[in-house]
Amino acid sequence: MNLKIAVLSGDGIGPEVILQAKKVLHAIGTVYEHEIVFEDAFIGAIAIDKTGSALPEQTLNLCLNTDAVLFGAIGDPKYDNNPDAKVRPEQGLLRLRKELGLFANIRPIKPYTALLDSSPLKKEIIEGTDIVIFRELTGGSYFGEKKLNDSGTIASDLCEYSEVEIARIAHLAFKSAQNRRKKLTLIDKSNVLETSRLWRRVVKTVSENYPDVALDFLYVDNAAMQIILNPRQFDVILTENLFGDILSDEASVITGSIGLLASASLGTTNALFEPIHGYNPQAKGKNTANPIASILSAAMLLEHFGLHEEAKKIYEGVEIAIGYGVLTTDLNADSKFGTNEIGEFISNFIFNKDDLLYF
Ligand code: IPM
Ligand code: MN
Repeated sequence: MNLKIAVLSGDGIGPEVILQAKKVLHAIGTVYEHEIVFEDAFIGAIAIDKTGSALPEQTLNLCLNTDAVLFGAIGDPKYDNNPDAKVRPEQGLLRLRKELGLFANIRPIKPYTALLDSSPLKKEIIEGTDIVIFRELTGGSYFGEKKLNDSGTIASDLCEYSEVEIARIAHLAFKSAQNRRKKLTLIDKSNVLETSRLWRRVVKTVSENYPDVALDFLYVDNAAMQIILNPRQFDVILTENLFGDILSDEASVITGSIGLLASASLGTTNALFEPIHGYNPQAKGKNTANPIASILSAAMLLEHFGLHEEAKKIYEGVEIAIGYGVLTTDLNADSKFGTNEIGEFISNFIFNKDDLLYF
């Protein structure tokens, strides 16, 4: 297969973790004889520094004309503490999601057996957890009209959803549930929000097409508690943009580190794959960032193109690395392994090298 991938490493630890994902994809391309071509482009704070825009036209055009996008992370401390900044790195990612029509963000959460003691949650609670979060990605308060009055004392972010926006992601979530344990939980705040009541109505209607899937509902406040109280009760979670953002960071605690969580963002014609962690400026350039979330995002990319055997090889490599204790310091404070070594280990595994631990 020929694959052209736009690589948007972005800021902070983005470039170093994405480098490892590229290494792994290169190994897959060589071993399974696929032509995987990378084209790099700027996004986020680095793009603002270079062009004045968080998403330069050149980057957007590249993404529109490639098979998929591999995305790192964006942000810079100089914007985080400055609410008055007119141009912000995050705008690059948000606009990219909108322009590519990436309405469904898929975030799997499944702890590794070898890491059951790495979570701050008790092993008995997290063991056997297997959740996929379907987070709506191009609507809600992220994209509604934003206002600030002239005196800068009143602000609002409109949260708006249409039936079409809800139905299209609901169909994807139900289809996923059909291939899993056939349970879908809609998380909302329908006791308070009109948008949530629309979500319930539309999702109920969509559910009629999937009679084999059990549908239930939870308010988001209760869901935030249930996710860490009894995560095994969940199979597929479907939720709106902001709730999904918050709940997926929370759910990452189950796995022991947010540095393990990958995601796919899908639309009708485009696809983007990214780790769910942020740009983590403190870790930048130290060879300590966990590249596994990016490497698993690369595996999700391969799966998206039907390359299941190749993706499986990456999943195996990650599992073996974790089992051997080839971990970054987020999972083992005394680890002697870094970002590079983990990428190297997993690509050596793909190349079937006998001497995986050459270091
Ligand atoms: C994420 C991130 C983004 C979001 C930020 C960087 C805009 O937190 O992908 O979860 O809020 O969607
Ligand atoms: Mn987030």
